[in-house]
Amino acid sequence: MLFNRARIASRSLFGSLRHQLLARRDFTIAIDGPAASGKSSTARAVAQELGLGYIDSGSIYRCATLLALRNNIDINESAGDLAALINKATVDIRVRPSTSRPAPNLGRLAVPEVQVLLDNEDVSKEIRAPEVNQLVAKVASDRSIREAVLHIQRQLVESAESISTNALSKNAEGVPGGVVMDGRDIGTTIFPNAELKIYLDASAMARAIRRWDEMNNQMKEANALQAAKGSSDSDSAPAAYPSVEKIARELEARDYADINREHSPLRIAKDAVVIDNTNLTFEQQVYTITDLARERMGLAPKHGDL
Ligand code: CDP
Ligand code: CDP
Repeated sequence: MLFNRARIASRSLFGSLRHQLLARRDFTIAIDGPAASGKSSTARAVAQELGLGYIDSGSIYRCATLLALRNNIDINESAGDLAALINKATVDIRVRPSTSRPAPNLGRLAVPEVQVLLDNEDVSKEIRAPEVNQLVAKVASDRSIREAVLHIQRQLVESAESISTNALSKNAEGVPGGVVMDGRDIGTTIFPNAELKIYLDASAMARAIRRWDEMNNQMKEANALQAAKGSSDSDSAPAAYPSVEKIARELEARDYADINREHSPLRIAKDAVVIDNTNLTFEQQVYTITDLARERMGLAPKHGDL
């Protein structure tokens, strides 16, 4: 009985928070999909093209995981302790124009950079560490943790909308304000009424190769920086990166956990547009989405002949 009441109370808490999430926005784009399918880069480019705010919900789960690791919290035993810590934490996601040349696989599109601050500390790199990759799906499977993350999502939606270029009005072209959010349950749970839902997918091998490429590019940049500084310090030599096969196994394990968990599993929303980008260029996938959004905003498409 008590248990049922607690469940109903927590369901209505979820419901009312979702209502508030939905209340203020004008146009919402939800992008979901498996690991390394291109959600975050695509969402950032789409938000920039349309002047909307951007929220990377995965980085909040990654911050939660970092808190668990830093505080030695055993997620199987003490998920409630972690939820309490998340409730006290602040997460800020800052988007700024890219300062480096676009990566070769991104064509001409310069994708904005994202900085993630946990309690005002820049943790952008740390939340991508292998230890976080290994634990994050377990952390994200807990209901009390998902509720704590939802509070942060709500705060971020409010600030993202206020920095959306078109905030509070339509821009000169008629594009309304709003947000693009990417994750696993955005179209199914967080924004069930989103104006546009995208499910981004790609073959398991394409996704593993992209992650591997990304890591190698970062390693090359780190090496070049070290060489420019004239550093010969062997301690600062970059770590060896895992093989494509190892990355593929890690992605597969995380996808399996995300699809098979009880709360807000990764699913294709029934009204989502599925885009398999295995053989698409980055520009093709971004412009397909911006044109779909423009169409639903009542505007003419810009890149109709892709
Ligand atoms: O970038 P990548 O696809 O590797 O992952 P991410 O978007 O940073 O998300 C990391 C993890 O957070 C996912 O594997 C999920 O376990 C969890 N997550 C979630 O459960 N719900 C979301 N809306 C976003 C992420
Ligand atoms: O957020 P998620 O983990 O789904 O993927 P991501 O980190 O945005 O993208 C993984 C990599 O795929 C990035 O290096 C993208 O540049 C690359 N990529 C893509 O997103 N789409 C293509 N058509 C080709 C490459």
